[in-house]
Amino acid sequence: MRKVIYNRFGDESVLELTEQAVPGIQKDQLLIRVKAVSINPLDWKVYGGEMKLMSGSAFPKSVGIDFSGIVDQTGSEVARFKAGDAVIGLLDVFKGGALADYVVVKETDLAPKPANISFEKAAALPVTGLSALQIIDQLAAVGANQEVLINGATGGIGLFAVQIAKKRGARVTAVVSANGVADAKKWGADTVVDYTKQDIRHLNQPFDAVIDLSTRFSFKDARRLMKPKAVFVSTLPSPLTLLSSFVNNLFSGKKRKILILKPTVEGFNTLTKLAENDLQIVLDKTYSMTNVREAYQEARRKKIIGKSVIVLD
Ligand SMILES: NC(=O)c1ccc[n+]([C@@H]2O[C@H](COP(=O)([O-])OP(=O)(O)OC[C@H]3O[C@@H](n4cnc5c(N)ncnc54)[C@H](OP(=O)(O)O)[C@@H]3O)[C@@H](O)[C@H]2O)c1
Repeated sequence: MRKVIYNRFGDESVLELTEQAVPGIQKDQLLIRVKAVSINPLDWKVYGGEMKLMSGSAFPKSVGIDFSGIVDQTGSEVARFKAGDAVIGLLDVFKGGALADYVVVKETDLAPKPANISFEKAAALPVTGLSALQIIDQLAAVGANQEVLINGATGGIGLFAVQIAKKRGARVTAVVSANGVADAKKWGADTVVDYTKQDIRHLNQPFDAVIDLSTRFSFKDARRLMKPKAVFVSTLPSPLTLLSSFVNNLFSGKKRKILILKPTVEGFNTLTKLAENDLQIVLDKTYSMTNVREAYQEARRKKIIGKSVIVLD
């Protein structure tokens, strides 16, 4: 089978398409024939070596965190899935390995694929959909009539965060660049701000939640936009930011929270129900296994609306 691996940290040039044996499974595992794999900024942070502390430095390493596919084999202890089932799944963020014709997983890594969406769109759901749910429902606990600012609203998480915040009854201000204005409106944003034209630090409105998906907006800047008991959510945990959030939250009404994605069966269920209803899943571009380097390079450098996906044939 084909599998993308790398033997040193670096840019996309380290990614190699290799031939490997199809792995075997244990009693509690499943073998999945992968149909599509989504591209996430976490991928290049890991293969770029930015997350060495968590990923370790032993090689070879693998790429691809979330995927869609078909169950090929099940171990004797597997109860919820059978061969032939269409599934979506999520692997360990720091180990990856979905970018291969077959992947070995446990039941808890999987959910049934919503029947009404394609394998390509389904692959785009797990990492960013579960992240958006965790941010909106748990970290920011967004409720009806709240004012929510989403900075970086047309990226992978933003695509779902805007729509889920609207479903919870909030008023959403989406911050995007010029090419994303129409999309953010289509996904339900009440107000759209083009960050290339307007500096959001000078917005004249207080928010109940400020969600930064761009990694470029600090808590210090966000504080000025926050109501006295508002929440700021960012997405890059580090020992320093986790500690300073902890200390801030002891003393300040303005809370600072940081996403550390924790996939749950309940989260998967909520997400797949949303997708079965009317959650819009927007694909910027699809790629094949033979142009994996180009796929990651473009996703890293270009302005993407929604998600990019690699399709395995
Ligand atoms: N901690 C965790 O567990 C966890 C889990 C998942 C993801 N993440 C992280 O969460 C972040 C967001 O993920 P994602 O998949 O949504 O990434 P993404 O698809 O790259 O989206 C990021 C968005 O930020 C926007 N942006 C860039 N510069 C901006 C600026 N100066 N002001 C406002 N917006 C700006 C981009 O818009 P333009 O392209 O139009 O500029 C883009 O839409 C990533 O850093 C990812 O690694 C963390």
